[in-house]
Amino acid sequence: MTEQAKLAQTTVAISGGCGDIGQAVARRLIEDGARVILLDRSPEDLLSADLANNTKVSYLRCDVTDRDAVQSALTEALKSHGRLDVAIANAGMVTNEPFLQVNPANLKATMEVNFYGAFNVAQLAARLMVSQEPLHGVRGKVLFTGSWVQDMPFPNGTSYICSKSAVKMMAMVMAQELATQGIRVNIVAPGIVYAGLSKKLHDAQPDFRERVSAAIPLNEMQTAESVADGFAFLCSKDSDYMTGSTLLIDGGATLVKRT
Ligand SMILES: NC(=O)c1ccc[n+]([C@@H]2O[C@H](COP(=O)([O-])OP(=O)(O)OC[C@H]3O[C@@H](n4cnc5c(N)ncnc54)[C@H](O)[C@@H]3O)[C@@H](O)[C@H]2O)c1
Repeated sequence: MTEQAKLAQTTVAISGGCGDIGQAVARRLIEDGARVILLDRSPEDLLSADLANNTKVSYLRCDVTDRDAVQSALTEALKSHGRLDVAIANAGMVTNEPFLQVNPANLKATMEVNFYGAFNVAQLAARLMVSQEPLHGVRGKVLFTGSWVQDMPFPNGTSYICSKSAVKMMAMVMAQELATQGIRVNIVAPGIVYAGLSKKLHDAQPDFRERVSAAIPLNEMQTAESVADGFAFLCSKDSDYMTGSTLLIDGGATLVKRT
């Protein structure tokens, strides 16, 4: 007898789905049997061929800071698949500036995408989920891509760190309020991933790798696939008793490496 794939019959919407982590997560969830809808303000042609040509993947253009666009995208996802099991608020941006030089416009833009955008995805998805029939007691799951820095200062990170810290508290409030309505809310908090936002910094700033290896006890940057493993678990039935939690997958970055 063949075992049923863990995420068979599971529909997952991922914002920022065309980015490096978004695509790695999509790939992993599809392997586990899910159907994924990638929401992104970037064009579909950023998708690698394996995802672009996969019938289990669809793409909807959507800027998470535009509430109407998020509402339409999620409604369309629900309409085409009959159910929205999981929404992953993953879209993000980063600006790095020393505190005394933080440009208020950059702070505002970062909060707008990372916090307000995540709020839009989370609230609008949860509003749809609460009307769904529960499956094994769960109506839906809202997940966030947090970061190890949600609980840790890191030099030059004011805008990004504050946005992720705000997301963490929002997730906890949501989890508490929606627990009795069958909604689970959790976070995957990666460390420093050699992909996407950190890869751009790594490639642009000569001292980035030095700062990074000084911060990671496991001594190497993380893979996007390790982040995807965390999401696969949080999307699955195996995590049904978790809510309001952060799954920290950071190579020990939060421990602070001491040599
Ligand atoms: N790369 C890392 O080291 C790292 C570590 C911890 C957490 N994260 C988080 O992972 C998530 C994904 O980042 P990534 O590293 O894959 O970067 P990435 O730049 O490859 O992906 C980010 C995606 O978000 C999309 N996006 C940005 N603003 C948007 C908006 N307003 N509306 C819709 N889409 C928007 C971009 O188009 C892009 O496709 C982010 O939330 C980031 O904070 C990344």
